[in-house]
Parts: sequence; C-alpha cells; structure tokens
Amino acid sequence: MTDTRHLLGLLLGTEEDWPGAFEQLVRRYDPALKVGGTTHRFDVERITIEPFDLRQKSRYDLVVDRLAYWYYVPREWLKKVALMDDVYLLNNPFTFQSMEKHAAYCAMIRLGLKVPETWLVPHKQPPDNPRFPYTAAKYNRFFDIAEVADNVGYPLYMKPYDGGAWVGVTRIKDPDELRRAYDESGERLMHLQASVEGFDVFARSLSIGAETMVMKFAPDRPMHDRYSVDHAFLDPAIGDEVVTIGRVVNAFFKWEFNSCETLVRDGQVHPIDYANACPDVAITSLHYYFPWAMSALVKWSIFCTTTGRKPRLDLDTARWYEVADGEGSYDEKIAAYRTLADDYFEQDRYDEFVATSLGDFDRVAVDYFASGDFDKLLVETVTSTFPPHEHEKFVAHYRGLLAAWVRDQG
Ligand SMILES: Nc1ncnc2c1ncn2[C@@H]1O[C@H](COP(=O)(O)OP(=O)(O)OP(=O)(O)O)[C@@H](O)[C@H]1O
Ligand SMILES: [Mg+2]
Repeated sequence: MTDTRHLLGLLLGTEEDWPGAFEQLVRRYDPALKVGGTTHRFDVERITIEPFDLRQKSRYDLVVDRLAYWYYVPREWLKKVALMDDVYLLNNPFTFQSMEKHAAYCAMIRLGLKVPETWLVPHKQPPDNPRFPYTAAKYNRFFDIAEVADNVGYPLYMKPYDGGAWVGVTRIKDPDELRRAYDESGERLMHLQASVEGFDVFARSLSIGAETMVMKFAPDRPMHDRYSVDHAFLDPAIGDEVVTIGRVVNAFFKWEFNSCETLVRDGQVHPIDYANACPDVAITSLHYYFPWAMSALVKWSIFCTTTGRKPRLDLDTARWYEVADGEGSYDEKIAAYRTLADDYFEQDRYDEFVATSLGDFDRVAVDYFASGDFDKLLVETVTSTFPPHEHEKFVAHYRGLLAAWVRDQG
C-alpha cells in the first residue's frame, strides 16, 4: 500500500460560511480510502494570493474557485495550473471566462432548448475608442430599438449579456419604458428577452458534479425566503427534464458547480439563466439545502481526486451538435443529451464510488450538521449577515430549517 495525500484548495473572497463547513466536514470525515493499492487522504487549504513562478508546480490537486471572476491574479494562476499542472478545477476557467450568459444562450438555443426569444442590441454608449466614429459611420446600421422590441414582444426583459446578481435587469412593458431603460443601460451590452409570462413555477437547479438538486425558487422574496422546502412541486417527468437541462449546460461547458434557472409553464421548461458557475451557496440562502450542497461538494472533490478523473478543458461541441442538427423530437434529443451528460459526469462510476467507498459519509455529515461546531458557524454567519435586531429571529429560523434537514435524514 502506498499513501497519497490530496490537497483541496479553496479560492475565496469574502465568504466564511460554506468554506468553514467544507473544511470541518472534510476534517471530521478524514477518510483513508483504500483504492487501487493506494490509501488516499485529504487536506483542505485556503489559497493565498502572491507572486508565482510560471514553472512552479502546484501543490493542489483540486481547486474550488469563487474569486477569479473578479480578481485577475488568481484568474491567471488558475489558467496556469489548469494548463501546466492538470489541477482539477471547479470550474473550467477558460469556458467560464469566455462563455458568458450570451454564449450559453446561443449554445443551448442550438441544442433546441426552449430559451425565450432573445436579441442582442448594440451599446447605447459606444466603446470609448478613437476608431469608433469611423467604424460606426461605415458599418453600423441605424436601428430603432422599438422595432427590435416588436420582434421580441412585450413584456420583455432587458438584461446584460453577461449578467449576474440582477444588476441592470429591467422588466419592460411598452416602448416608453424601453427607451428609458436603453438610455440608462449606458456602456452595458444588453439583451432584450421575451418574458415567460404567467409561469407556473420557477425551478432553480444547483448541480455539483454528478449531483443535482432542483429547488422551488421565488426570486422576488428576501434572501432567506427564496428557496422553499418542497420536494414534490414538479411532476416527475418535468423534474427530470429540469435536471437534464442543468446537467447538459454543465457537461457542454465543463462546468461542475453551477446553477440553472428555469421557468415552467404549461408543461414546457424554459431556461432563462444558467451561466452562474460557482454560484452562491451561502447558508443564509440555501438553508435546508446547505448540507446537501456541502456533502455533494465534498463527495465530488473526493471522487475526482481519488479516481484521478482528468480535467477536460476543451469543448467537444461536435458530439452535441450531431444530436442537435439531426432528426428527432425535442424529447428524443433531451434524452440523447442526458446520455452525453451522464457520460461526461461518469454518473455510474460516481454512484458506485459513493456507495462502496463513501458509505459512511452521510452519517458523518448528519452528525456534523447536528453538532455544536456547525451551530457555532451558523450563529456567526447569521450575526454577520443580519442587523442586530434580527439576530434572534434568524438564528431560530435557520436552526429550525437545518434541524429539519437532520430529522429528514432519519
Ligand atoms: N425571460 C424571462 N421571463 C420571465 N422572467 C425573467 C426572464 N428573464 C429574467 N427574468 C426575471 O428576472 C430575474 C433576473 O434575471 P436573470 O436571472 O437573467 O439575471 P441575473 O442578473 O443573472 O440575476 P441573478 O443573479 O439573480 O440570477 C430572474 O430571476 C427572473 O425572475
Ligand atoms: Mg438569474
């Protein structure tokens, strides 16, 4: 037997809650997994930011990144360790940076998903570049934004092509509102997207590796109340379609930690936002589902490092487009995409690994989420998130939801 230690790295900004839970869960579990003549052990470390030699080998086997989307030093470090050291990354830095919401719409429209009618319109305030006036005079076609909107239909949403965190999103019901919103959009590049009006339910799925949780979501509620604890809000076939759509996006772009927003109306599933790689997984937003998310993150990290799953950085779009461009109904294509996605995530191998090698994990997780250590983290998180007069109420609220999860595990 040889011994190997895998170092799991966390690339973090301001959050303390889930990283604390992830670290405590790995340390409590502390498995010594005997796989293929090797004993595998695990350490977790928070990655620091400092000068680095491009030829220096990475100490990490796997990195979960919540930082590189706005901070370019770790972003460039991630590219280096991906290209040179085969570090396993959640998520693929190349597709995450170049494929924003817009690219994700394009690819999924080509796959035939029911993305609402969407147009891209040129910036209201053009790029600040001395070449612009000449270029625009020669090549930019005059357009009337109200005519573009007529193609989309009202009500519609104007939202940034690379959006996130609801910044710059406006719901628009007529040409006056449209002109006002367009004037305000300034230097931001915008989509106009048809609204899915009168949807029956907003289903938001969170995927971590080969696991997906579909949750009932209410975007207009305050943060603590957006996800409802409801296990049967979709009919099973629709639920499966929602899972498939989330996994297809992820397998297509090689994102392994992402969320996907879908609006379900009259039995049709419309995906509207699914480029949220490394999404928010705060205790204060996920509450009841937080233990699931942390458990999935730990299990997927252990699976990838123990089995030597190879990170894949390139897109093999041809496999998907072969299905997309071929004959077959929507349902048949969805089923074919699911097969490709399950293949990418090695679904069977993962399930088998969890059942045979991580059989005792769930018990450790339940003990942890019922423990004083976790309660301390929960209280610290609530007191640093809410104003003092709400501490008591919200500590009780979150304790109740987490206790319900522990109870539901039997
Ligand atoms: N086509 C649409 N039909 C109906 N509602 C929509 C549509 N597009 C956006 N919305 C509403 O606007 C919200 C924000 O839009 P979207 O998710 O695309 O932006 P975002 O900036 O990524 O927001 P977030 O970070 O909160 O997910 C959605 O959660 C949904 O409630
Ligand atoms: Mg969204």
